[in-house]
This record gives sequence, C-alpha cells and structure tokens, in this order.
Amino acid sequence: MLFLFALALFPFGTLAVRIVHSNDDGWAEINIRTLIDTVTAAGYDVILSAPAENKSGSGSLDADPTSLTSACEFDSCPPGSPPTNYNASNPRLNYVNSYPVTSMRYGISTLAPKFFGSETPDLALSGPNVGSNLGFAVWFSGTVGAAVYAVKTAGIPAIAFSGSSGTQTGWTAPTPLYSSIYADLALNLTSTILASGTPYLPAGIFLNVNFPEVSSGSCGDVGEYKFVLSRIFTAILAPDDVSTCGSTRLPTESDVVGTSGCYVSVSVGDASMKTDANATMQAVILGKLKSLLSCLS
Ligand SMILES: *[C@@H]1O[C@H](CO)[C@@H](O)[C@H](O)[C@H]1NC(C)=O
Ligand SMILES: *[C@@H]1O[C@H](CO)[C@@H](O)[C@H](O)[C@H]1NC(C)=O
Ligand SMILES: *[C@@H]1O[C@H](CO)[C@@H](O)[C@H](O)[C@H]1NC(C)=O
Ligand SMILES: *[C@@H]1O[C@H](CO)[C@@H](O)[C@H](O)[C@H]1NC(C)=O
Repeated sequence: MLFLFALALFPFGTLAVRIVHSNDDGWAEINIRTLIDTVTAAGYDVILSAPAENKSGSGSLDADPTSLTSACEFDSCPPGSPPTNYNASNPRLNYVNSYPVTSMRYGISTLAPKFFGSETPDLALSGPNVGSNLGFAVWFSGTVGAAVYAVKTAGIPAIAFSGSSGTQTGWTAPTPLYSSIYADLALNLTSTILASGTPYLPAGIFLNVNFPEVSSGSCGDVGEYKFVLSRIFTAILAPDDVSTCGSTRLPTESDVVGTSGCYVSVSVGDASMKTDANATMQAVILGKLKSLLSCLS
C-alpha cells in the first residue's frame, strides 16, 4: 500500500521530496519515530532534528544548544553528550539539546546542507505531538512553534500535527495503535499537499492538524477517519471564512476533534501571528485538499 502510494507519487523515479522533521516531545518519542519511518517508507527524504529532552510547551523559545548534563530522554544518549549529535547507525536521526525552534533551525541551517546540498528543504513537519494543540494552546505549543519558525524564518511550508491519545513513550516500546494511525493520517495529508504542486502552501501559511482519540473500539482503523477544514479560534464577528459545506463559518478545530466520528481538524494558520488565515488563504487549502476533505456531520 505504501509502496503503491510512493509509486504513484514518483512514477518516473524523480528525486524524493526533502523534508525536515521536528517535534517538542523529543527526538526519541515514539510518535516522531513512527512518523519518520512511515514517511521514509513512502519514499520521502527525511531528516529528524528534534530536542534531546521533552520540551513540551516551549512555544517559540530558541537558545543555542548546550552539552547534556543528564541523559537524553528515555536514556537515548548518555550524560555529558555533546550539544547536538546523531544516531551512529542512522545519521538522519539527530538530537539538539535545546528547544523545538532551535531544533528546526539546526535542521534547516546545518543538517539540510549536509544531506540535501544546495537544495533547501521542500517541507517541514512537526509532531505528531503527544496531546492536542487546539485553539489558544497553539500559542504555547513547541510543535507549532517549530512549524511556524520554518515558515517565517526560512520560507519553508510547514505542517504541525498533534493527537489527543497517548502519553510520552520511548522509541523502543512496541508501537501503540494511536502512533501508527496518526502516522498514516499525517502521511496521507502530507502526500496530498505535495501532490497538489508548488507552492505547497502559500507564503506565510502553516497548517495545524489535530487527530482525535484513538482506541481499538473507536477510531481504531485508519479508514474510519475524515479530514475537516477548521478554524483555530472561535470567531463571531470576524470576516467570513471560505464558503464550504454550506456555510461561510468553519467549525473550530476543538469542535471538529470533539465530534464523535473520527474527525481530523485541518486549520489554516497565519504564521506571523499564529492566528487564523483569511478566507482567500483558506480557499487555497480547500482547493489543494478537496479530494481529502469532508463536512462535519
Ligand atoms: C513534558 O514537559 C511538559 C511541560 O513541562 C510536562 O507537562 C510533561 O509532564 C512532561 N512529560 C514528561 C513525561 O515528563
Ligand atoms: C539508533 O539506530 C539503531 C539502528 O536503527 C537503533 O537500533 C537504535 O535504537 C537507535 N537509537 C536511537 C537513540 O535512535
Ligand atoms: C486518505 O484519506 C482519505 C479520507 O479519509 C481516504 O479516502 C483515502 O483512502 C486515504 N488515502 C490513503 C492513501 O490512505
Ligand atoms: C489574505 O491574507 C494574505 C496573506 O496574509 C494577504 O496577502 C492577502 O492580502 C489577504 N487578503 C485579504 C482579502 O485580506
């Protein structure tokens, strides 16, 4: 299935899309490892550059990395390790002992030239975060902070993914069901954006994507999910949103994820303020994702 998907994307053996991938739960957390494995298996060229430790909630903080005084999370590197390093058997897996934004910065300015040469990354991914990033949480989220950094500072389109299920789990644990479902959904949306052609996202725009609760009894199969275009913030007096599903007001991402029926929210964010983008920008995303989007019902 993944193989066929990759084949459909690169039918003539064109060069793979280059992706920088970060998060705020740390480089050794199972959600980011499951997603990088999934996206790599689909044929994309991905480098992981994420914090050495859990840096959840650190928003857009950025500080040069320092040597480790304790072990990396889940004992994924020993105390005294250098400020940045990589897995000796897979140099694409990199930690940065600092914040999510710093990790994205290091990925773009130091690792991308090493792996991609003169080509800049085509896309930045962040997450999936352990826990939702809905509404005001977007302002404090390191997952969103890393995505917004890529857009604002490097002009690289970026998607932030978060999921409500799970707790922070080390990479050597058996892959939880929610991690693999979130990774499959993230690959689906990412591939759809990439297949829509360049520019993958309009300048200054990021996507904030939230996945609902997963359990084997409910939403335990990736085929049950539907993607819904949403807003980050509640808006009563704001100008109209893009017209879709019979309305000029999109549901909030909290409403989408909170509705029973396995709905994934996709909000169009303005990176300069971490707020909702306008109807013109929402319309661009609606066009790119039309094969994927459903109405909330
Ligand atoms: C990760 O950091 C956040 C914010 O400081 C904290 O709330 C959370 O409990 C931490 N997670 C773990 C597993 O320590
Ligand atoms: C490093 O990569 C090896 C080989 O893939 C793997 O067995 C090991 O768990 C990885 N360690 C970390 C911290 O990524
Ligand atoms: C992507 O998601 C849509 C909507 O849920 C689904 O119809 C489609 O089959 C998925 N595609 C892949 C390749 O998973
Ligand atoms: C919508 O937002 C974009 C990007 O911020 C901006 O360039 C454009 O002028 C805005 N359009 C309207 C109608 O406000």
